[in-house]
Amino acid sequence: MGKGIDGSKFRFAYYKTDYNARCYYSNGKWGEIEISDSEFIPIHMAATCLQYGQEAFEGVKAYRGKDDSIRVFRLEKNAERLQSSCRGLMMPEVPTELFCDVAHQVVKLNERWIPAYGSGAALYLRPLVLGMSPQVGVHYAKEYLFVMFATPVGPYFINGFATNDMMIIRDYDRAAPLGTGQFKVGANYAGSLRANEVARNMGYACEIYLDPKEKKYLDECGGANVFGIKGDTYVTPLSDTILPSITNMSLQVIARDIGLKVECRPILVEELADFDEFCACGTGAIVSPVGKVFDPGTGVTYQFSKDGKPGKWSKALYDRLLAIQFGEIADSYNWVKVYDDL
Ligand SMILES: Cc1ncc(COP(=O)(O)O)c(C=O)c1O
Repeated sequence: MGKGIDGSKFRFAYYKTDYNARCYYSNGKWGEIEISDSEFIPIHMAATCLQYGQEAFEGVKAYRGKDDSIRVFRLEKNAERLQSSCRGLMMPEVPTELFCDVAHQVVKLNERWIPAYGSGAALYLRPLVLGMSPQVGVHYAKEYLFVMFATPVGPYFINGFATNDMMIIRDYDRAAPLGTGQFKVGANYAGSLRANEVARNMGYACEIYLDPKEKKYLDECGGANVFGIKGDTYVTPLSDTILPSITNMSLQVIARDIGLKVECRPILVEELADFDEFCACGTGAIVSPVGKVFDPGTGVTYQFSKDGKPGKWSKALYDRLLAIQFGEIADSYNWVKVYDDL
């Protein structure tokens, strides 16, 4: 085995690492980056992140490649999405340069926690922006904290690259039609916990939401986008209430390159019957093939894999994405940054 810790024992969970980075915003500007070895943050009990959910976050992975060097994937896209989430919640944007600088420092300081190449695990970075100053009326804060911690993680879905079954949820929405679904904010996830519990209690790995306005079209899972393969076409939902997934964006480019057409459009639930393959995708989920989807509203089960094996296009997309992230093939898209000081 090459450098790095054994990643095989990690689930998608929190494991303590050595350092995190913090940066405070006050008087209209971001301060200096501070490095901390504490897992705790001092917080006022009336802080807006606690009172009114004024909080946004991100999820990024650092990968130890085949050549043992450390790579991050499309980090600027996460910075841009965090900026969009901040605008959505009336929080100051974290500049891309600050975001990337903090990520670099956090990876460097926790280098020993980056799993070895070959285990499928990676070092997950979790950037957060929190409204820190007290408010009791519904107002935005004057002061903010940008914090980034790191934890080694395995795959989001316990089966890894094997099929999981999912269930459509009709009794709960993840986000409102003109609400915060397109932002990565904690409130969306708090609102998804009950639906996730329902799906899990019924034996499914995850819940799939429909568009909250008409309840006719597929939206996404609780923690990932979805896409289907229909003949020679990669089809993924176009919706204002889903998080714009950087993985999905990248898979669409790869899909074209491996000979698929790409359609990003509203997808009627019933169209699932025409899909040869169906997958969840995201930084955590990577490409997670779905075995079947149950719709309790109609009693229909849509079956994609009879033998539990991923379909050929899902596998081709997964292989190509990981080969870029782990430095096994040339990164012709310029998506990866190698930290050559590590
Ligand atoms: C609700 C939701 N959708 C989609 C995604 C996938 O986005 P990305 O590919 O940028 O990780 C995530 C995870 O980050 C998510 O939480």
